[in-house]
Amino acid sequence: MSDFSHDWLALREPADRLARDPGLLDAAVEYLRAGREPAVTDLGCGTGSTLRTMASRLPATQRWRLVDHSPALLDRALESLPPEAGRDRVEAVVADLDRDLERVLAEPAALVTLSAFLDLVSLAWIDRLAREAARLRAGVYAALNYDGRSGCEPFDALDPQVLEAFNAHQRRDKGLGSALGPRAAEVAAESLRSAGFEVQVARADWRVDPDMAELQRQLLAGWVAAVAETGRVDARALAGWHERRLGQIERKTLRLVVGHLDVLALPAAHAASR
Ligand SMILES: C[S@@+](CC[C@H](N)C(=O)[O-])C[C@H]1O[C@@H](n2cnc3c(N)ncnc32)[C@H](O)[C@@H]1O
Repeated sequence: MSDFSHDWLALREPADRLARDPGLLDAAVEYLRAGREPAVTDLGCGTGSTLRTMASRLPATQRWRLVDHSPALLDRALESLPPEAGRDRVEAVVADLDRDLERVLAEPAALVTLSAFLDLVSLAWIDRLAREAARLRAGVYAALNYDGRSGCEPFDALDPQVLEAFNAHQRRDKGLGSALGPRAAEVAAESLRSAGFEVQVARADWRVDPDMAELQRQLLAGWVAAVAETGRVDARALAGWHERRLGQIERKTLRLVVGHLDVLALPAAHAASR
């Protein structure tokens, strides 16, 4: 099971908001506005970042089903609803999305959303999602999927080893089968196309500049913990790398890029009617 703290999700939300591809976000909003009922099921919703990103652009008839296995994160999501998404139009569902995906998607929805979630899942899970979305005739908007392109500036000789180990860790089982990690967006696009969707993919990279020092610190702490778990990088060399990077954060000389891809899959009939 993967755990994500409220603090971490709060820290990353502004970076996520800046990184989402605006064209795919606009297309997802337009698709919901053009349909009969703007009902969204958000899988792995955390504290509701996707709802907060989209709600102000959707009609007052919008309805949301927020789904997560963490009751604490769902509570946070309900506490921070924007005015456009009234409490009586939002349902919180506690579910293990490995076991319960089909049950959760039995309810009608025009759009299924996911953010920072697909890289946790397996190929089999993505095929299940594509099958259920096709049955519902719902679009799928899966944003902010890590794609393996992490980079630091200035360059450090240990960077390639650290990145290779980090990406290997991303492919470990996170409770939803053998995780696709950096291949998630590409595999999802293929699976959704095979299920009959019109699919668009766009870059949504984080650019974590020196003024985002706390996000840099937390991000690096996460990388170091993951890399250490793999045992692929010598522990002393890794500690030295971490020290050098923390020094650069203090001096405001570090820039990080974390590669993400957004995926939007719309039922072919809708895509053709535009
Ligand atoms: C990286 S966070 C993303 C949260 C949110 N979508 C966002 O963009 O801020 C992944 C979320 O997936 C949830 N999650 C992980 N595994 C899950 C599972 N098996 N069933 C349901 N939720 C799960 C976590 O609790 C967490 O809220």
